[in-house]
Amino acid sequence: TRPRIVVSRWIPGDAVALLREAGEVWLPEPDRALPTAELHDAVAGADAAVITLGEHAGAAFARAAGPQLTVVANVAVGHDNIDVPALAERGITVTNTPGVLTDATADLAFGLLLSVTRRLGEGERLLRSRTPWSFHLGFMLGSGLQGKTLGIVGLGQIGRAVAARARAFGMSIVYTGRRRAPADVETGLDATYLPHEELLRTADVVSLHCPLTPETRHLIDATALEAMKPTAVLVNTTRGPVVDETALAAALRDGTIAGAGLDVFEHEPEVHPGLLELDNVALAPHLGSATVETRTAMATLAARNVRAVLAGEPPLTEVTP
Ligand code: GLV
Ligand code: GLV
Repeated sequence: TRPRIVVSRWIPGDAVALLREAGEVWLPEPDRALPTAELHDAVAGADAAVITLGEHAGAAFARAAGPQLTVVANVAVGHDNIDVPALAERGITVTNTPGVLTDATADLAFGLLLSVTRRLGEGERLLRSRTPWSFHLGFMLGSGLQGKTLGIVGLGQIGRAVAARARAFGMSIVYTGRRRAPADVETGLDATYLPHEELLRTADVVSLHCPLTPETRHLIDATALEAMKPTAVLVNTTRGPVVDETALAAALRDGTIAGAGLDVFEHEPEVHPGLLELDNVALAPHLGSATVETRTAMATLAARNVRAVLAGEPPLTEVTP
């Protein structure tokens, strides 16, 4: 019998076609977010599951699927929605989609940075409100990036891609993280390692590119925000809970830091009401990887991972506990 492949939500057609070559594919039609109970019903009897970051896969998910479940492919690079040890314990392979979303996410981080430093959202709101305005030299002044210091938290693939863009903007690069990058990476980006505290104190822009783990939850809390320059801007394109959003809203309101560009939120899809009232915050609804090209590549990679595991081959991009 052909393997049963459950896809939790809409994915681009090419990827579905790839999966159909490997088994019987089920997906919710029309597309919608399945409540947990329905997801668990749907996954019963599945050999493979393709999920997105809106769905949680852990012990209960594996039990609902049954012992034949061999692979869970996340269509995301972040995998905080998966209890990897719980699945590994049951012999289930977990895969993610690194690499293919690096540039799209780095582009969006820069978009948010420019949006907040050049007041693009605020300017657009002004125009759409039909408020009279005219060009003058003191009108809506922002701040430039040239000569400023970008502090990257987590110099992985996306952090490096953000650093490369920052170099083109004339910024200097410092970074922090669990471990130092290889010497050739540091040299190539002209990036200087700093301890976390020192990075917060010296960076003009702090951009977060670490995964969400128990260690990074609320990494940016009131104390961290207090350590940052009052002129500094925070950019978050990783996961909302890396930032204490209540503390951030207070810091932005009180001028503890100057601005923020946020693509992700602590209680997604909710956004802290304090942030919605502030003009010094640029907001995006988790669009980091949201290009046609990137989403197609992510889904295709997930499908290829499923096909590999079902064929008894090593997955392309496995997440190990
Ligand atoms: C998106 O947020 C991802 O982790 O791919
Ligand atoms: C600005 O619009 C300029 O022409 O300098």
